[in-house]
Amino acid sequence: MAVNVAVLTVSDRSKDGIYEDKSGPFLVDIIRRKTEWNVSDVAIVKDEIEDIKAILVNWCAEAFNLILTTGGTGFGLRDRTPEATRMVIEKDAPGISETLRSESLKITPYAMLSRGVSGIVGTTLIINLPGNPKAVGESMEILLPVLPHALELLAGTNNAHHDV
Ligand code: MTE
Repeated sequence: MAVNVAVLTVSDRSKDGIYEDKSGPFLVDIIRRKTEWNVSDVAIVKDEIEDIKAILVNWCAEAFNLILTTGGTGFGLRDRTPEATRMVIEKDAPGISETLRSESLKITPYAMLSRGVSGIVGTTLIINLPGNPKAVGESMEILLPVLPHALELLAGTNNAHHDV
């Protein structure tokens, strides 16, 4: 199945050019190295609900299979990626974010500080990842074994249960 992925970096400082965005390009690099998916779009937005919502809505309208966001999931006053994502999603996919947190807790206790959410809009899956490149790499290690089956089910190309 052809999979189209979009990567969104949510960061005031990266958008303003104060910091170089390392997590977005790192996510793209992981996708290119470890999957055969197409990276169909990438963007950087500020930690503003309206900006995050607008790009998520546009990308869902393009029926991308997967949207990965990085950043803005923590306890900072400006961190609001989960709130914007929740406004867009139609169905929750809580198991994904629960697993990211519980598996990441084995690596760092700070994992409990990520408030990231996951959910479905039509045939698009949106997943919030934390903002630092280390967290992005660790999260993708957790997600990659499961995402192909999740995306097939979502696209309706595979209705079979997975035998493990
Ligand atoms: N998850 C993993 N796997 N590895 C990490 O290093 N960092 C945590 C957490 N989740 C981390 C992680 C930290 S330090 C924070 S503050 C939260 O994610 C939120 O990060 P964000 O505000 O950049 O989204």
